[in-house]
Amino acid sequence: MKRITVKDFRDRKGGQRLAVLTAYDAAMARLLDSAGADALLVGDSLGMVALGYDSTLPVTMEQMLHHAGAVSRGAARALVIADMPFGSYQISPEQAAANGIRFLKEAGCAAVKLEGGEEVCAAVRALVRAGVPVMGHVGLTPQTAGQLGGYKMQGKDLAAARRLLAEAKALEAAGVFSIVLEAVPARLAEIITRSVAVPTIGIGAGPHCDGQVLVTNDLLGLFEKFVPSFVKQYVNLAPEIKKAVTSYISEVGSGTFPGPEHSFGGGDFSGLLEES
Ligand code: KIV
Repeated sequence: MKRITVKDFRDRKGGQRLAVLTAYDAAMARLLDSAGADALLVGDSLGMVALGYDSTLPVTMEQMLHHAGAVSRGAARALVIADMPFGSYQISPEQAAANGIRFLKEAGCAAVKLEGGEEVCAAVRALVRAGVPVMGHVGLTPQTAGQLGGYKMQGKDLAAARRLLAEAKALEAAGVFSIVLEAVPARLAEIITRSVAVPTIGIGAGPHCDGQVLVTNDLLGLFEKFVPSFVKQYVNLAPEIKKAVTSYISEVGSGTFPGPEHSFGGGDFSGLLEES
């Protein structure tokens, strides 16, 4: 099976839409990969979805590398992109490049993603110069959600829309191979998509982007704490899991599990009981 490269991903601009999903471990990566996802994003949503934090801010480089490595080992075809966590690229372009290189070298990822507009362009340039492909992310950027007034739609008025368009163009000029647009009006996402030559990947950004990304746990109904309104839940697994676990607990309690079909027979242990 041929692995999707950054060039393949970029070449899909305006063509068949790209389907991207988040992944945090090898088992889920294997499932999503074999179902045909084009790219797996090891999002720093890891912090909220899998590590129990209330935001993405506490997520560390070591945590991201640990999970990104697992996803890389689970994926055979999909492009694996790792989110650079808060504090891993803001200090200097050199810091960004050094941390980005770790995702390729230690975790086997093909690319990294980072959040922000003009203020991160120096970091993007340093990463690209160092040979690390970069995906941008503008609109609602969870690492700076506090400064944006919370987890809210962005680019609502003309001035804000102009700023977002300028950010996307600045990222493109800095060398990103793709840009995530999060929580922006569909019409604005359409205008940005037409204005840049790299694929836009929408999340809460309407149907006109070159691709879409969703947090897998939201799509599968596995994350019950909070589900944004733009998420489509394709299946609701949480109640199914609870039902299965309740049955297991009840069968363990009653002794009906394990049955003979789940136990090992055979062996001659005559006399052992008397010896014990
Ligand atoms: O961290 C994440 O999962 C993300 C996607 C939702 C785009 O940044």
